Amino acid sequence: MNFTNGIALDGPAGAGKSTIAKIIAKRLGLPYLDTGAMYRAMALCALSEGVSLTDAEGVDALLRRTDIRVVYEADGQHVLVNGADVTGSLRAEEIGKGASLISKLRCVRDKLAAMQRAIAHETHAVLDGREIGTFVIPETPYKFFVTASAQERARRRVQQLREKGEDPDFELILKDIEARDYQDSHRDYAPLKQAEDAVLIDTTNMTIEEAVDAVLAALEAK
Ligand code: DC
Repeated sequence: MNFTNGIALDGPAGAGKSTIAKIIAKRLGLPYLDTGAMYRAMALCALSEGVSLTDAEGVDALLRRTDIRVVYEADGQHVLVNGADVTGSLRAEEIGKGASLISKLRCVRDKLAAMQRAIAHETHAVLDGREIGTFVIPETPYKFFVTASAQERARRRVQQLREKGEDPDFELILKDIEARDYQDSHRDYAPLKQAEDAVLIDTTNMTIEEAVDAVLAALEAK
C-alpha cells in the first residue's frame, strides 16, 4: 500500500488513538508522529519562560525565537526545544491542559501544522492529533476519527492512574475530560472534529487489538 501524504488519526483525549496509531505505524513500517507532543512542548516552553498561554503576541514572539524540532531515536519520537530534549517532561496533566490552551492560538497552530504537514509528506507517517484530517493533511484519503464515550475514557484514565499507585477521583477526571473536549472542539480555528470522509472508530466497547484490526481493514479496503 502507498500512503503518500500520511495517515490521519484524530479524536479526543484518552480514546486510545496514540496506542492505536503506534501499532498501526509499526505494522506498516512507517514513522509515528505524536502531534500533541509538539503542542505540549510549546506549552512547556511558554510556562518556563513566563509567557502567558493566552497572550497571542507574547506567544508569537516566543515562537519566533524558539527552535522546535522532532527527531527519531531508537525508542521513538523526541521533541527538542532550542536543542534541549524535553520529551520526558511532556506528560504531566498541567502540560496537557496548557497544550490545549496554547493550541487555540493561530500562530502556534500554523507553525506546528506546517511542520507536521512536511513530515507527513516526506515520510508518509501515521499522525495522531485533533485536526490532522481536517486541517493538517486534508488531502490524504486515509483518515480516522477514534473516539469513546467520556465515561469510558475517564474509567480508563482512573485505571491507568491506579496502576501508577495514585488514588484518583472518577468525577474529577470525568470533568477534566469533558472540559478538554469542550475546549478542543469549540476553538475558532481548526477545532477537533471528524472529517466528512473519516472512518469512525468508536473504541467504547472495543479492545485495542479490535480497533487496530478495524483501521487496518479500512486501509486495505481503500
Ligand atoms: O493529544 P494530547 O493530549 O497530547 O494533546 C494535548 C493538547 O494539544 C490537546 O488537548 C489539544 C492540542 N492538540 C491540538 O490542538 N492539535 C493536535 N494535532 C494535537 C494536540
